[in-house]
Amino acid sequence: MVSHCLTFADLTRDDILYLLDLSGKIKEKIKSREEYKPLKGVILGMIFEKSSTRTRLSFEAGMKRLGGDAIFLSSRDIQLGMGETIEDTARVVSRYVDIIMIRTFEHSRLERFAHYSSVPVINALTDLLHPCQLLADLFTIKEKLGRIDDIKVAYVGDGNNMANSWLIAAGVMGFSLSVATPKDCAVNGHILDKAKDLAKGSGARIVITEDPIEAVRDADVIYTDVWASMGQEEQKEKKHALLRPYQVNGELVKYAKDNFIFMHCLPAHRGEEVTGDVIDSDHSVVWDEAENRTYAQLAVVLKLMGRDK
Ligand code: CP
Ligand code: NVA
Repeated sequence: MVSHCLTFADLTRDDILYLLDLSGKIKEKIKSREEYKPLKGVILGMIFEKSSTRTRLSFEAGMKRLGGDAIFLSSRDIQLGMGETIEDTARVVSRYVDIIMIRTFEHSRLERFAHYSSVPVINALTDLLHPCQLLADLFTIKEKLGRIDDIKVAYVGDGNNMANSWLIAAGVMGFSLSVATPKDCAVNGHILDKAKDLAKGSGARIVITEDPIEAVRDADVIYTDVWASMGQEEQKEKKHALLRPYQVNGELVKYAKDNFIFMHCLPAHRGEEVTGDVIDSDHSVVWDEAENRTYAQLAVVLKLMGRDK
């Protein structure tokens, strides 16, 4: 059976620690401009049904840096956007390339794609989960705080694909996570059940609250994301009204530890989910976080292609 990377829930804590270690090695080699081309001859197909800056660039440039290549396929330009089924697209694209990443809407669309693909598939964001971002986030936390155990992460804002991803990551890795959302912007119920189940094994402490101050109190990491995700444009006004008390601003961050770090998957909307005095402060690590997407994703590609040894 072909291995894919669709969710952290399919990985163990040791798998993730291994990928973080590998990300560090890749970063060192790329930064030192060492001749390192383990992906020679490997072509990544990149299917985007939604927009992207970071994911596209980090995958495409990363593949090229390690000797491989990447082909960008916007659903607007391929037959997928004209009604060819996801199953047929998977069958065909996987005949041309060695590995595929896809950014799409419903998570089931990704699962169907992976089922019919004859090569490994990577989740590059669905409405439910964004595991590539989470791997880069954990790598960034390890770099900045020197550890990923004994940390408290506070996620404040919309209960979206990033909040869901944090829940699964906490469940697998065993750290403490507090998620503050309004009741009407809650996280996915199945994901929460899964995270709680995983937490029984890992010892993770998962708290769901409507109170942003409770979530942020004594946090090592404060995380937020846009209030209306891609595909939710028509809910924008309603969501903004509900989420206004959840803005990460100078007042809220006072409740965190003195040396907290601020993270955001980006794109950010200053004055909405975060204020400029927070995202542009010394606590913010968002630019390193964005850069780290490259190394984390390359670790996944190397592992799935068996080029990591
Ligand atoms: N964080 C992230 O995935 O950004 P893009 O939407 O720009 O790829
Ligand atoms: N929650 C956001 C993340 C973007 C990287 C979205 O899905 O649009």
